[in-house]
Formats: sequence, structure tokens, C-alpha cells
Amino acid sequence: MKRFLSIFAAFLLILSSEIPAVSMTLHDFMEDYVRAADKYRKKSGDPSILIQMIKVVPNLALPEQKERWGEIVNQALSDQKPEASCATCHKEFKKTYKKEFRKREVEIPEELSLLLKKI
Ligand code: HEC
Repeated sequence: MKRFLSIFAAFLLILSSEIPAVSMTLHDFMEDYVRAADKYRKKSGDPSILIQMIKVVPNLALPEQKERWGEIVNQALSDQKPEASCATCHKEFKKTYKKEFRKREVEIPEELSLLLKKI
């Protein structure tokens, strides 16, 4: 049983390293994914795609900002106002992030690219 479990764990590890992701800057992710999902929300009244997009945003943060990004997103989600997260986070982080990390690449899970194709 132990042996089976360790083989299974190794298998999961291989699987997770193969989950495809797309590399881009945070700026491009914001413009091409988050803004597109927000426009779709405004047009259709359906926030579900925007919600899935902004849930990923804290994972893209610099390690020292991750906690605060998570709080901002969680607050907006618990208020059922995903669109409120934009201004809060931009006010606190956009200028400084842009100045120093404009070229930093982040990994966007493939499933978000698939979602984008639906809108
Ligand atoms: C938790 C943080 C966070 C959240 C939430 C967030 N953003 Fe951003 N956003 C950023 C940062 C940081 C940048 C600057 C990236 C850069 O320029 O390198 C940015 C940049 C942008 C840009 C690029 C253009 C510009 O203004 O410089 C757009 C468009 C954008 N965000 C849209 C949105 C929208 C729409 C939402 C909400 C639905 C949102 N963002 C939510 C952090 C966030």
C-alpha cells in the first residue's frame, strides 16, 4: 500500500507539472483577460468568468504582496462585488508594480485561456 501511494504521489507530481500555463506580463493578463471578463460582466450581467479570473490574481503577486492581494480579492468576492477589487488593488499597488515589474512574467493557467474563448 505504501509503495502504491508513493507511486501515486509521483504520478500526481508529474501531472501537476504538466498542467499547461501561458506566460505573459501582469499588464497583458489584466488587459487581455481581466478587463475582457469585466466587459463581459457588464454586457451580460454574468460575473462568473470575472470571478474566476480575479481568484487567480493573488497567485500572480510578488511573494511579499500575495497576502494583501488575497485579502483584497477575498473582500470583493465576499461582498459579491468582484469589480470592486480593481480600484482597491490598483490604488495600492499599480503604480509601484508597473514601475519596477512591468516586464516580469507570470504564469496564467490554461483554463483561463479556455474561459476567455467563451466570451
Ligand atoms: C490584487 C490586485 C489587482 C486586482 C484585483 C486587479 N488588478 Fe488590474 N492591475 C494590477 C496591477 C499590479 C497592475 C499593473 C501591471 C503593470 O502595468 O505591470 C494592473 C493593471 C491593470 C490594467 C492595465 C492598464 C493600466 O491601467 O495600467 C488593466 C486594464 C487592469 N489592471 C484591469 C483590471 C480590472 C478591470 C480589474 C477588476 C475587475 C483588475 N484589474 C483587478 C493589480 C490588480
